Amino acid sequence: MIDIHCHLENKYYNNIEEIIEKCKKNNIEKIIVSGYDLESSIEAVELSNTYDNVYATIGYLPEVIYENKIDDIKELEKLVKLGKVVGIGEIGLDYHWYQENKEKQKELFVKQILLAQKYNLPIVIHCREAITDCYEILKEYKPKKCVMHCFSGSLEMAQKFIDLGVYISIGGISTFKNAKKIVEVIKNIPLEYIVLETDSPYLTPEPHRGKINYPYYVSYVADKIANIKGVEKQVVEDITTANSYKLFDF
Ligand code: NI
Repeated sequence: MIDIHCHLENKYYNNIEEIIEKCKKNNIEKIIVSGYDLESSIEAVELSNTYDNVYATIGYLPEVIYENKIDDIKELEKLVKLGKVVGIGEIGLDYHWYQENKEKQKELFVKQILLAQKYNLPIVIHCREAITDCYEILKEYKPKKCVMHCFSGSLEMAQKFIDLGVYISIGGISTFKNAKKIVEVIKNIPLEYIVLETDSPYLTPEPHRGKINYPYYVSYVADKIANIKGVEKQVVEDITTANSYKLFDF
């Protein structure tokens, strides 16, 4: 299995080496650590240089605009060749936390899509309460490879993204007892468009919900998908891993 999206940072964990060892023992062959601002992107790159099974994506979330962090794309670009960078992300739109200056959010998003295209890298998208705008931007800029991280939209939207060739990343929310929408999505979209993630340390799957998350908990997500689709877990593991290889050039 591959956890295509997590935040394995020192500020959340004091035992990263142990976690990575545990991943190896638990059949998690690769972990992609995702940046969301310059600092976390640098840390992701450093981790990818330290551990053979860790890869990085680098990017700026809309929060950099609102929290007055560095939003210079050139600084991000400097990191592209420094480690095992396999994508640009997480990037996107967030109208849940930030309703003002949506145009500025879109501008930052588009700049990073162009950066990804320049280096032929896939994009990992964060999208919160902004799914229509996100879809319109992807339709216009047509990134070659793209994944919606922690997808939480409707089945109708999932199908529209799939029609653009976009992968749907499923995380711990799918295991929650009140998860109806995402279960509907999983049931009805082809496994060939699904990848797995944890978004650690957040969104911990059942039965550990409420506690800190770890990349090896991605196994619970695979269990849940197998259960929803009525297939063996091994099938979910094989197909989602193959999808991750199609999406990211490890
Ligand atoms: Ni994330």
